[in-house]
Amino acid sequence: MTTLELRGRWTLVTGASSGLGLEMARAIARDHGGHVLVVARRRDRLEALCEELRTRHGVQAECVVADLSRPEDVERVFTEATRERQLHGAVLNAGVTYWGDAVKLAPGAFQTLLDTNVTSVVRLSALLAPHLAAHGTRGGLMLVSSVAGLIPVPYQAAYSGTKAFVLSYGQALAQELRPTGVSVTVFAPGGIATELLEHSGLSQRFKAGDLGMMTAPECATHALRAFTRRRTLSVPGWLNQALALAARLLPRGVLAQHTATLYRPGP
Ligand SMILES: NC(=O)c1ccc[n+]([C@@H]2O[C@H](COP(=O)([O-])OP(=O)(O)OC[C@H]3O[C@@H](n4cnc5c(N)ncnc54)[C@H](OP(=O)(O)O)[C@@H]3O)[C@@H](O)[C@H]2O)c1
Repeated sequence: MTTLELRGRWTLVTGASSGLGLEMARAIARDHGGHVLVVARRRDRLEALCEELRTRHGVQAECVVADLSRPEDVERVFTEATRERQLHGAVLNAGVTYWGDAVKLAPGAFQTLLDTNVTSVVRLSALLAPHLAAHGTRGGLMLVSSVAGLIPVPYQAAYSGTKAFVLSYGQALAQELRPTGVSVTVFAPGGIATELLEHSGLSQRFKAGDLGMMTAPECATHALRAFTRRRTLSVPGWLNQALALAARLLPRGVLAQHTATLYRPGP
């Protein structure tokens, strides 16, 4: 299969106002000369990013401000992204987590987690796949899962479940879309030093520089390599790859027991 050529073509990136999404948008513009359409809720951050990418890298960059936990915003993102524009790539990266006792996760917070991490991904994939296949353009779709999708993670139980869904859905979708020429890449990183850790409180437990913890730019480089090579599943970094191997070899109960000791809140 030919590589995914992003130069001079448009790629949609959700969750591009911070962390991995922001760095993937930068990498697409800087390293691949691609145009980007970035999506998130924080308009100021998206506009600053677009200005930066246009000025520094001479690419086209536009933003759509949207809350992907709202179905009407998800539909609008697709409409605005594809109005008078042919997308060649789409990276569905926006995500949120919850760290704590699973039974204390409020129903509303769980619904937001599910809508953002799962429902928006399924709906956007369904809308985007035929568009990326149009005119035989053989585009590419990347879904951001996590090592937490390979291994059950206690105290991130609901998040871990959403990422397991994305992994399974993406790998299955890759096969369904094969005849259309559209590649689907599931990217499953481990810890990345981003705002997600601050927002969830996980920064009390995991910090930049810890063993296996990646920086967002480093992780984005891995993600873009997998995306442009049309890899079906990519787990970046030797430690995460060792965990992925353990997930295949060890009983899930044993993995969950060990993971619980790492993630249990408290001193
Ligand atoms: N950090 C890690 O250790 C880690 C590990 C494995 C996988 N991941 C995955 O990597 C992806 C990126 O996470 P990150 O670490 O880069 O976190 P981050 O810095 O918190 O970025 C999350 C992005 O998602 C956007 N977002 C969140 N809720 C949204 C909503 N309702 N509508 C639209 N956009 C929304 C945020 O933008 P706004 O707030 O502006 O809307 C932000 O741009 C996520 O899918 C995450 O699960 C992260």
